[in-house]
Amino acid sequence: MSSLVSGRGNWGSRIGFILAAAGSAIGLGNIWRFPTTVGRSGGAAFVLIYTGFVLLLGLPVMLAELAVGRRTEKNPVGAFKALVPHTAWKYLGGLGVVTGVAILSYYSVIAGWTVGYIVKIAAGEFTNLASHNVVADAFTELIANPTSALGLHALFMALTMLVVLGGVRGGIERWSKILMPILLGILLLLVFRSVTLPGADVGLRFYLQPDFSKVTEATFVSALGQAFFSLSLGMGAMMTYGSYLAKESDLFTCGVWVLVADTAIAILAGFAIFPALFTIPGLEPTEGPGLIFLVLPNIFDKIPGGIFFGTGFFVLLGIAALTSAISLLEVPVAYFIDERGWTRRKAVVVAGLLAFLLGVPSALGNGAVGWLSAIPVIGKSFLDVMDTLFSNVALSFGALLLSIFVGWKWGVADALKEIRFRRATSFAEKSWGFLIRYVCPVAIAIVLANVIRDLLVG
Ligand code: TRP
Repeated sequence: MSSLVSGRGNWGSRIGFILAAAGSAIGLGNIWRFPTTVGRSGGAAFVLIYTGFVLLLGLPVMLAELAVGRRTEKNPVGAFKALVPHTAWKYLGGLGVVTGVAILSYYSVIAGWTVGYIVKIAAGEFTNLASHNVVADAFTELIANPTSALGLHALFMALTMLVVLGGVRGGIERWSKILMPILLGILLLLVFRSVTLPGADVGLRFYLQPDFSKVTEATFVSALGQAFFSLSLGMGAMMTYGSYLAKESDLFTCGVWVLVADTAIAILAGFAIFPALFTIPGLEPTEGPGLIFLVLPNIFDKIPGGIFFGTGFFVLLGIAALTSAISLLEVPVAYFIDERGWTRRKAVVVAGLLAFLLGVPSALGNGAVGWLSAIPVIGKSFLDVMDTLFSNVALSFGALLLSIFVGWKWGVADALKEIRFRRATSFAEKSWGFLIRYVCPVAIAIVLANVIRDLLVG
């Protein structure tokens, strides 16, 4: 029995780990951010590029994170301390801990809106809509009202803390086992309804027929950013999950399963949204971040069983967000337990409270407080600034340094001992080595340079 290796908990089974890691990957990133970005980036061509990045860059970085995590059985800070003691690499782990708290802070705000929508749709607030304004007004009221915005943020954060309090096996794994299959079931139901709507072919064409004239440099940047965010890479979340993985599990198989599940859910989310979207006159795929919250109720109102499908969709989104938020919180929690010797309870309370407080300005910056909604000079909301800083810059930076660390410092040979390609084909191993040493650092550096240039140019 290799579980309970270090007394800090372990996954009960490989499938438990895969479900939990897939639960981390699948979240708002797939179901809310992916369709939003596809819609803005012109459709099918973006989907192709995104898929390419997931395979060429996402998979190698995923394996690198899992390898570092399982080798050291530690949180990101402890992992670098163990592999290369007394070096500055531990600050890369520290960046991951900070990024985890920071992303969780506003992730919880958006997830809170999802929770609010479950109630609104179930209560029939979005049925027989006289005009689109009904939804727009209800959405604005929900996110601009400080009571609902803060209350839902607090509620979602409390739920996340409760699950993480249960520990690796009692909490994360058990929940993921129950929740993930439900999630897939509701999504398949939604897809089926969406693609059988009259006029679904327009949306299907948008989603499946690439128009390469729409591809620009920005398309590549958003595709790569989306890939890292969606796969939970760049801040040690997968490293932390890998640290709980039994020694005999094959990392390559696990990584591929997580990647396939994550990509499949994102692609399915697109199939749920685009065919339905295009059947409603006046609605555009370029709607932006409000896409789901602003547009979906309109669509659900115009399909039979709209209350049922609409409620199901937002329950699904809330569940997916919860299993992702769990992994964001687990990184700082594992750090406090391993490095500071705290109890799990203390670690969860402190990290959760920190994330909640940091999320307050994000919750209030959507109409409730003027200057937080449009920060002077920058002109963006606090939440937007946080998302850009941490999801784009910090994750890319983290993934860049991690691939340099594994490819050049720790070394491909050592990492490969941990990854153990099942059929041990030297081709697979050589490919991974090449990708992590050359392709990942160069490609990520290019994206990061673009993000920083955009930040400076505005
Ligand atoms: N991947 C999740 C999503 O798609 C979000 C997430 C969870 C995440 N943990 C992460 C993103 C760690 C980056 C890093 O919604």
